[in-house]
Amino acid sequence: MAFSERVSRLKSSLIREILAAAQRPQVMSFAGGLPAEAMLPQVDWQAMPVSMGQYGMSEGEPQLREALAAQARALGVPCEASQVLVVSGSQQTLDLAAKLYIDKGSEILLEAPTYLAALQIFQLFGADCLTVPLEADGPDLAQLRVRLEQHRPAFIYLIPTFQNPSAVRYSEAKRDAVAALLDEFGVTLIEDEPYRELTFDDGNAAPIVGRLRKASWIYTGTVSKTLLPGLRVGYLIASPDLFPHLLRLKQSADLHTNRVGQWQALQWIGSEKYRQHLSELRDFYRGRRDDFQAALQRHFGDLADW
Ligand SMILES: Cc1ncc(COP(=O)(O)O)c(C=O)c1O
Repeated sequence: MAFSERVSRLKSSLIREILAAAQRPQVMSFAGGLPAEAMLPQVDWQAMPVSMGQYGMSEGEPQLREALAAQARALGVPCEASQVLVVSGSQQTLDLAAKLYIDKGSEILLEAPTYLAALQIFQLFGADCLTVPLEADGPDLAQLRVRLEQHRPAFIYLIPTFQNPSAVRYSEAKRDAVAALLDEFGVTLIEDEPYRELTFDDGNAAPIVGRLRKASWIYTGTVSKTLLPGLRVGYLIASPDLFPHLLRLKQSADLHTNRVGQWQALQWIGSEKYRQHLSELRDFYRGRRDDFQAALQRHFGDLADW
């Protein structure tokens, strides 16, 4: 059949296979970032205005953009609501970034290992994926410098807070060092942070994009891990040079993110109810982590490291 050339690069979806495996009742999967079903919050739709059923703005709902910008500023990301684009899950950020930057053979830089679905979309567009190894506190800086010197990649894609799949959280020092290197070489940073809020201690290092002085950047987050992944609501915040291009790509992809989900997300973001819910989530997952650690110790203590 005469499909596009890029479709030949579409790998059978590992993500789909992982999700299918996780559906089997006898399987407890740690491979996908699925929220615990028991912790999905009850949501109320009663007060949603009928107008949310109408077409909306490609940028996203203005109030939600304001709330997301305020949240990002509190984390140390200097931004205005005009730099916020509401997307259909942070997965769409990766799709839009791929369209913006990748031609067949474009070199990009990734952590090794990295998020499978990111790899899938970057490869679909024909990227030549270079990698930098991860250590316990972030990327190997010497190797990062070598990659940047020798290749000038179109962008670097990083998950600095509870990296998927390694769970690595970059140290303060590595965050600063990565920002300095990207400024030095003028390489765009795509920083993906779906898991930031699910922290089990007080350590909460500020995003790398807020430490950049010159390089362009895209910061992306989502309500998938803390509210409901089925809403398909995420966001990107971009440096002003990139925003207009990403907005046009968003418009051509799907006009705008579903307004019903955006309305629901707005009922939570920045509210006391959300703070309470996040605190319950952290306690719940911390407890599960501790139980799992104890079970591993009991059954695998003399067989494996983790
Ligand atoms: C690192 C990373 N980025 C992006 C996503 C996609 O999330 P969303 O549901 O917002 O599209 C996930 C989901 O597992 C993820 O782990």
